[in-house]
Amino acid sequence: MTTSRIAVIKGDGIGPEVIDEGLRVLQAIDARAGLGLTFEALDLGAERYLRDGTTMPAETMQRLRTEFDAVYLGALGDPRVPSNVHAKDILLGSRFALDLYINLRPIRLLHDRYSILKDKGCEHVDMMVFRENTEGLYTGIGGQFKRDTDDEIAIEQEINTRKGVERIIRAAFAYARANKRKSVCMSDKANAMRHGHDLWQRVWKLVAAEYPEIKTFHLYVDVLCMEMVRTPERFDVIVTNNLFGDIVTDLGAALQGGLGMAASGNIFPGRVSLFEPVHGSAPDIAGKGIANPLAAMLSAGMMLEHLGHAEWELRLREAVKACLRDGKTTRELGGDLGTRQVTDALLERLF
Ligand SMILES: NC(=O)c1ccc[n+]([C@@H]2O[C@H](COP(=O)([O-])OP(=O)(O)OC[C@H]3O[C@@H](n4cnc5c(N)ncnc54)[C@H](O)[C@@H]3O)[C@@H](O)[C@H]2O)c1
Repeated sequence: MTTSRIAVIKGDGIGPEVIDEGLRVLQAIDARAGLGLTFEALDLGAERYLRDGTTMPAETMQRLRTEFDAVYLGALGDPRVPSNVHAKDILLGSRFALDLYINLRPIRLLHDRYSILKDKGCEHVDMMVFRENTEGLYTGIGGQFKRDTDDEIAIEQEINTRKGVERIIRAAFAYARANKRKSVCMSDKANAMRHGHDLWQRVWKLVAAEYPEIKTFHLYVDVLCMEMVRTPERFDVIVTNNLFGDIVTDLGAALQGGLGMAASGNIFPGRVSLFEPVHGSAPDIAGKGIANPLAAMLSAGMMLEHLGHAEWELRLREAVKACLRDGKTTRELGGDLGTRQVTDALLERLF
């Protein structure tokens, strides 16, 4: 039997609460199906930083690269660490150091009751966002000059490389072909950002020509935001850059029932990849046992798919759907269950 080695970074706030429940489900699946999953919890996060100043040691990053197949992460962010330096080093650090260039974020409404759009249901909200995850505006390149004076200048530079743009666009088209999705929408702001996004335009047209069976279209990101709300059924696969992908997927989270339902993967195909709910550490509800664990469950499903167990991603998603159907949810979705009870309900519906 092949084994899959999973590093676990529970993180801060509600991170450990939802990841503990995700682990309970993963262990139950493993016990049932014999997938050979092994877990190792890494002592990283705000507590560790406050204890000894460690954020992400280089040796740990090297271990992630060589000794693990996946990372299962909660969320990072703690009011006691206002600089958020640990989150930056662990999460952004892993994305860059492990070259996790695909940030895959499904936007799927799993029950009509949780739609916030008039006359739109599950059949209208089902799209996959491919967000570029290693460059764009998030590389920290730039600087400040004459800081804290009236003459201050702050520059944030957007990096678009041919290699980076091409591989994310290729990933989106390859996914569309493999999953028989009908269309790919590329979104940028080429009318205003004339250098970097011109590169996106040219590469998109070249790659699209290799996929004649897939309908492709382009929207400026402002129009994309409007259309995702007005006619979400237009969208199948969306590919965009780091900043725009970050923003449109939070809009997407609202379309699928809120942050407690939004899952994501930070992926390098065939290599160690990191899976996490989209939400943060939610300090406002941490420690109360009321966090919605379903985003963490759906993220665990994406991790199982990455590890070669696509059938369990599907079964987990069906079990989440069944919880929603039966109203077995936390309060923000109108239910009255706690984090652990939602997991109990999910386990009852999984096997
Ligand atoms: N990937 C990450 O680790 C990540 C992502 C976003 C924010 N953060 C960090 O998290 C901290 C809090 O950020 P924020 O408040 O802007 O965003 P957040 O996602 O933590 O919370 C936003 C709102 O959504 C609610 N919410 C989030 N997840 C929920 C869940 N599973 N169940 C029920 N309600 C949920 C919260 O209670 C809050 O009202 C900050 O330190 C931020 O930097 C981390």
